[in-house]
Amino acid sequence: MKSKTNTDIGGLAARSKKGPLWQFLDKKDGSFSAPFAEYISRLYFPLMNEAGMKSSVTPELKGDIASSFQHYLTPATGTEELSRNLSSRNVWVTVKGHQAWSATGNSALQKANRWSDKKEASEVEGHIGAFILRRENNEIGISSKITVFVPQTQDFVELMKVQIQNDSTETLHCAVYTATPIFGRHPDNFRDHRQVTTMFQKVYNEKYGTRVKPLIVHDEHGHNINDVNYIVYGFEADGSAPQSVWSSQQDFTGEGGSLDNPEAVFLNKTASDQNAINDGKEAIGAIKYKDIELAPGASVEYVVMHGISNDETTFEGWIKQYGSVQAFDTYLEENLAYWKAISENVAFDTAVDTFDNWARWIAFQLKCRQIFGNSYLPDFGYGRGGRGWRDLWQDLLSIFLVDPSGAQNEILNNFNGIRIDGSNATIIGTKAGEFIADRNNVARSWSDHGAWPVFVVNFYLQQTGDFDLLLQKLPYWKDQFTHRNKETDTLWNASQNFRQKTKKGDEYHGSLLEHMLIQQLSAFYNVGEHNNLLLEGADWNDTLDMAREKGESVCFHNFYSHNFKLIAEMLEALKEQGTVEIQLLSDLLILLDRLPNQQKVDYDDPAERRKRLKQYFDNIKHTVSGAQTSINIDLLINDLKEKSEHIREHIRTNEWIEIDATEGFFNGHYDNLAQPMHGLKKGNIQMDLTSQVMPIMCNVASEEQCSMMHKAVYSVLHDHEKGGLRLCTEFPEPNMNIGRITGFVYGHKEHGSKWMQQNIMFMYGLYQRKMPQLAYPLFKEIMHLSTDSQTNLIFPGLPSYFDPENRGAYAYLTGSAAWMLLSLTTQMFGVRGQKGNLMIHPQLHSEQFTTAGQATITCNFMNKRIKVSYLNPEKASFGSYEIESVRINGKNTPFIREQKDAIIINKTDFIHSCTQEINDIEVKLKNYQ
Ligand code: G1P
Repeated sequence: MKSKTNTDIGGLAARSKKGPLWQFLDKKDGSFSAPFAEYISRLYFPLMNEAGMKSSVTPELKGDIASSFQHYLTPATGTEELSRNLSSRNVWVTVKGHQAWSATGNSALQKANRWSDKKEASEVEGHIGAFILRRENNEIGISSKITVFVPQTQDFVELMKVQIQNDSTETLHCAVYTATPIFGRHPDNFRDHRQVTTMFQKVYNEKYGTRVKPLIVHDEHGHNINDVNYIVYGFEADGSAPQSVWSSQQDFTGEGGSLDNPEAVFLNKTASDQNAINDGKEAIGAIKYKDIELAPGASVEYVVMHGISNDETTFEGWIKQYGSVQAFDTYLEENLAYWKAISENVAFDTAVDTFDNWARWIAFQLKCRQIFGNSYLPDFGYGRGGRGWRDLWQDLLSIFLVDPSGAQNEILNNFNGIRIDGSNATIIGTKAGEFIADRNNVARSWSDHGAWPVFVVNFYLQQTGDFDLLLQKLPYWKDQFTHRNKETDTLWNASQNFRQKTKKGDEYHGSLLEHMLIQQLSAFYNVGEHNNLLLEGADWNDTLDMAREKGESVCFHNFYSHNFKLIAEMLEALKEQGTVEIQLLSDLLILLDRLPNQQKVDYDDPAERRKRLKQYFDNIKHTVSGAQTSINIDLLINDLKEKSEHIREHIRTNEWIEIDATEGFFNGHYDNLAQPMHGLKKGNIQMDLTSQVMPIMCNVASEEQCSMMHKAVYSVLHDHEKGGLRLCTEFPEPNMNIGRITGFVYGHKEHGSKWMQQNIMFMYGLYQRKMPQLAYPLFKEIMHLSTDSQTNLIFPGLPSYFDPENRGAYAYLTGSAAWMLLSLTTQMFGVRGQKGNLMIHPQLHSEQFTTAGQATITCNFMNKRIKVSYLNPEKASFGSYEIESVRINGKNTPFIREQKDAIIINKTDFIHSCTQEINDIEVKLKNYQ
């Protein structure tokens, strides 16, 4: 806050009418400041560490603290609870002669004053890795600064530093209190057996604060002994113990009091009975620090520690490690450096400052997804820990850009979750090899799941040239579900170790390539009556979830066509390296029906396709033969190409809907009555964005179809006023032959909101098809929607979607971040691998170049850090520049020209030239027009 006077309040009025919610600070590292942020109700900010500590903070320091889905230190807080619930990390100051004051703004009085002239100035500062809240009380003449972060250690700890300053001209007699209610159990017990589980809790009043350790973890299937402790400790600046502690919430708030009006604070009490037994009561870590006299201009500091551990002896160590201002400051500095490095992994320097800053938050979001999955943060009340199959694959696309070696291990680990019938476990736990069939115990297969791994593996292979990965042998996952979850293997039980066995009882291992093939083949034959992929549980759009028998996904059928082609290309690459034969599970060969000696299937006959699949499924229902057959690589390539072509031609011919000579689009789905969902319905066009994205990205749509589709999408789904594309047109009424999508109010969620992931994938597809003139305007709209904080009312980053008022919803944890980073790096800035060689193909617009004509990306390639600077003195745009020369670390580098603006630097030359910690690659662009 610049001034310490009430004039700052004017800023609030200005903001609510026309000002932005936040502004980037000058540092170019994404840091921002947001005055009066508590006036926006649904804001939150994530804090986390690699060990898995997860917390969220709001401008009032609400938000929860958890170490896992089973272990919440504070009550789990969904978005709606933020304004209903009084639970927060609170800091109180009592000054002789004045009403008690909350430095987080959480007192009944301050809240009531928010809409009067007694409102107070406040400001939030967001740094990647730390959250700061400042507040002023002009009546008393004090101000506060509270900094919260999660240190990057192996501990489940969140730290908070409180600074209180006397801004008045008199000495103030003050007392400071901090108070965090402790929940200490599974979030399900928020309602379920709430009081029963409270009575399990041992509540310890300790020297530095409160420790809660429930005796039992409540589970009616069979209760368990609990090991986990939850603590809230407070420290004077030098690490000494505070004055007194309340561990019972009731004792702190008093009869008739509440968390925003606690009797202890308002009556300036000291906790008298430090030996009181509070077991079985709702707990709080409420701490009173030593009374102080603050001279004018003087300030005082405290540290609060929130922690979770199943070893109570660790707390002594934590007290020494974290419990002082000095320790706090050291860990904070380390933490900010850690996050700076993460957010710089892929960084940009262009003429557009907002873009350079905003991109930092997108890199941060990838880490959020790794740690939070799609649970924990306030908007993600549906999540229950773990990570979903399609999401973790997509995240890998850019995790690979920021952490290549980590990504390779994750790819291999995830392949262990594939079943021999081509379906997969849908939830991946936090530990390697931890899979769950379905989070809600609904046995189902998702038609898109088999498609994502090929896309990711292909990206990995192109970036590294490591084609040997394809031949790596891995096990298959096994449980009772077979036939893509439609049948049960009654011979299986959990003692068989969740691994696919052979008839002899050995664990069966097949190559990574075989795993991918099984997924594609299982999808290829699993078609409905219109000869498209059966929709099953749903596809990427998981709200199309009630067309499980007859529904079809043309949308993802595109993807499988592309995947067959990609696998054929991978095989070509293996062939170039000398591979002549591929070993495959012999049982699988009946699905490779174009091989000699196999009985051909008529692909135009859906029943025949399904019959062949059933034959395979019946054979491998419990065990596989374990035998492998060597197949000539060329014959295999031919088989796959034919399948790819068949799908492509089928979609192009049968699913294309022409509006007129210039506009057209694809039908994307069939419902459970086997009726097409899209096209002209009762005089209105019914259209789905994802179903246009896929044929573009998967090269199913011809070039002409791409332009016609782009036009149709812009005339039907585009928000002409505010920008962005809606995910679909309106379903007029709930339709139980389609799914829950039809029950959402139009404009929300999958039912027609401006869904970022598909906006970005549409943009990605357009760049990939070399149509930057169409992709760039969409990029600008996405960036505008995401950074126009006056309207979107979220902190910087990409949310999952924008609602009808253009408010950002489901912030931070969205697959969009991965697609955005992938698009920016590999398409817009055009830095990507081609079989391990470096391809440079920038598709940049003139306005992205600085006045000096420069645009720069810093990223990783082949384990080297590279800074690629495009030098474009005339500031020419895509389509009018060519690559003139390339210098690596000051020396001219040979390259192969692919086209005017695309070149390839050979892997050997690249590695030879990149000898520095950061390698400067200067690419000169020349205007040829
Ligand atoms: C979310 C889910 C994703 C699902 C999508 C559409 O996407 O995480 O699994 O496919 O909705 O239903 P996101 O918010 O990550 O874009």
